[in-house]
Amino acid sequence: MKGNILIVDDEFGVRESFRMILKDEYNLFIHSEPGEALRTIKKNRIDVALLDIRMPKMNGIELLGEIKKIDHDIQAVIITGYATLDTAVKAMRFGAFDYLTKPFDRNKLEELVKEGIKRRRRRDREKKELKRLEIIKKDVNERLEKIYSSTVESLMVALEAKDSYTSSHSEGVAEYAILILDGLNLNLSSEFGEIFRYVCTLHDIGKIGVSEQILRKKGKLNKREWEEIKKHPEIGVSILQPIEFLEKFIPMVLYHHEHFDGGGYPEGKKGEDIPLWARVLAVADSYHAMRSDRPYRLAMSEEDALEELKAGAGTQFDPEVVKVAVRVLKKKKRTS
Ligand SMILES: [Fe+2]
Repeated sequence: MKGNILIVDDEFGVRESFRMILKDEYNLFIHSEPGEALRTIKKNRIDVALLDIRMPKMNGIELLGEIKKIDHDIQAVIITGYATLDTAVKAMRFGAFDYLTKPFDRNKLEELVKEGIKRRRRRDREKKELKRLEIIKKDVNERLEKIYSSTVESLMVALEAKDSYTSSHSEGVAEYAILILDGLNLNLSSEFGEIFRYVCTLHDIGKIGVSEQILRKKGKLNKREWEEIKKHPEIGVSILQPIEFLEKFIPMVLYHHEHFDGGGYPEGKKGEDIPLWARVLAVADSYHAMRSDRPYRLAMSEEDALEELKAGAGTQFDPEVVKVAVRVLKKKKRTS
């Protein structure tokens, strides 16, 4: 394939000699004016540009800057009548790979154009290779993510064996949390909703790192046991962190036991410093727990559980989230 060469020089004689020397081997785009040259570059793929440094309106260095904005990989040679070190350095700094002095030597010109084409081809190959590597990387990441997600799901199964309550509870929490989220009318995408639900089902996964005796204990927990339970949000984060698509949702897991008044754990975050998704999850989590039979107490009635949510508004829970939760949960009761 013939290379495409752009020649920009305001001197007719120079343009014509370039044409004579290069026309048989290359496709030439010859202009006397930088503006026309830029239009040509926008419409055609140019491999090598030979740019006169001294032109009215826009000099060769400025033109090179504009050319690079359109196609950074065009290989440029600056043509100069007075090759000082300064102009050469300037040309290189602006991205030319070499320069040619006038009056020019035919062999030198041919050599430079050949070199430019070689560089451009090499750049094309590099870009192609980079693209290929990116595709491979994406593919590997997706596969790793799938493997990791299934590992997390296996961990959930393992947690179920350890603590059957947590697993069934998590599904229920997700249902309530989605109801509340919908009630907030935030116009979220369905993809967001799906990941949100997924994270709700996993929010207690960190309990896999808490001893079975503590998880299954029927009586009241002592201080040491309680301290161990309190580690589960952080353990959950360390389990879920490697899954890239969950990144934005990790704070939900970390802060689902924070209280609106700052009295929760692990950090004692307060009010709106607790991410909204974690505030929603906290209400759904507590409501589902109240509505479930536990070894140490029976499930609360819907009315009592809703009253309990209202009582915790402003202390344990975000009052706005409670307001929405009470509305949507009452409605659910009427429709179910
Ligand atoms: Fe939890």
